[in-house]
Amino acid sequence: MMQGIGRKLACFGPGWRASGDRFFVTSCRAVILERFGGPEVLELRPDFPVPDLKPKDVLVRTRAASVNPLDLRMRSGYGRSIFGSLLPLILGRDVSGEVAAVGSSVTSLSVGEEVFGALHPTAVRGTYTDYAILSENELTIKPPSLTHEEASVIPFAALTAWRALKGTARIEEGQRLMVLGGGGAVGLSAIQLSVAAGCAVVATCGNQSFQRVLSAGAEKAIDYTAEDIESTVKGDFDAVLDTIGRPETERIGVSLLKRGGHYMTLQGEAASLADRYGIAAGLPAATAVLMQKQLRYRLSHGIGYWWTYMRADLEGLQEIGRLAAAQKLKIPVDRVFSIVQTREAHEAKEKGIIPGKVVLTFD
Ligand SMILES: NC(=O)c1ccc[n+]([C@@H]2O[C@H](COP(=O)([O-])OP(=O)(O)OC[C@H]3O[C@@H](n4cnc5c(N)ncnc54)[C@H](OP(=O)(O)O)[C@@H]3O)[C@@H](O)[C@H]2O)c1
Repeated sequence: MMQGIGRKLACFGPGWRASGDRFFVTSCRAVILERFGGPEVLELRPDFPVPDLKPKDVLVRTRAASVNPLDLRMRSGYGRSIFGSLLPLILGRDVSGEVAAVGSSVTSLSVGEEVFGALHPTAVRGTYTDYAILSENELTIKPPSLTHEEASVIPFAALTAWRALKGTARIEEGQRLMVLGGGGAVGLSAIQLSVAAGCAVVATCGNQSFQRVLSAGAEKAIDYTAEDIESTVKGDFDAVLDTIGRPETERIGVSLLKRGGHYMTLQGEAASLADRYGIAAGLPAATAVLMQKQLRYRLSHGIGYWWTYMRADLEGLQEIGRLAAAQKLKIPVDRVFSIVQTREAHEAKEKGIIPGKVVLTFD
């Protein structure tokens, strides 16, 4: 089912098998989540199975994978209604590495190419592993000017922002965007993608992110710990992206929009309601909550209200790659850990010791 892993990987032992002149990886290191809990539940296994590739799959030799807030939430049980019966699973959404093998109908990528990309939020076999499997349309060529560490922090966050801005709000040149929580990876991506599309952006952030937000291209940064957002800006925005999604940010976001604008939150309630009531009752309950809010805000403010989620989008990923290559899209890496220190990396993020992006490396 797959093209061979090739000559570069000629040394093999346990975890490899040979077939003719080709080598196949059958198991590798992976950080496994067998039960939900704190960082201590993460376990580095030396020999987790690597399944055969499906026709559209690409096997990536992972060089770097970033730690996303979703990884921490999944580890502690968020999404248990979906993932509970699928344990053990591998966390991690982003990857940067080299193509090690391709499925039989992959045409756009070849063995040895350096790629980066991200898995869907519900993928069970994540990227905290020496060999990650992504679909062909979840990967693109890594900009050569970026290191694997730099590339690995971009795709999941930037594709989340891309989906909201391009897929939901359909932002256009000359429009005004407000990012509530602009100091994080999705917020910084949203600012840079909007600026690249010719929009003006205002963002809220903590004081330690102030400079990052302005360097990303926001025309104004508002320190949410010290300033009153509503009295600082005029409420004439075409779109608000709320990365925080608390009742207070929702109230502010909605009040800042002009009629016909779009309020988008990253904190949709589908997974939490499914966890609370089970999938069968929780998902219809989530649809009801969403529709009720959509109707209410349409009538009260004349705006669109949306829960937005990351989704694979090859066209988006390729544009993100072009912007990153042109230095127009950058997310700073704050700390690098080795894969053997994944627990420490999660602990540091959880305790808020490292505010920015954390990367795991695999050499
Ligand atoms: N729906 C989806 O598919 C999806 C996809 C990706 C992420 N998410 C969610 O979106 C959120 C952001 O993700 P991320 O990757 O950007 O996380 P991140 O890089 O960890 O950034 C989070 C940022 O939020 C800021 N923040 C916290 N409270 C704030 C407030 N009251 N006002 C303004 N800013 C505030 C902090 O910035 P300061 O340092 O400036 O305080 C922090 O840097 C997470 O909750 C994540 O789970 C959802």
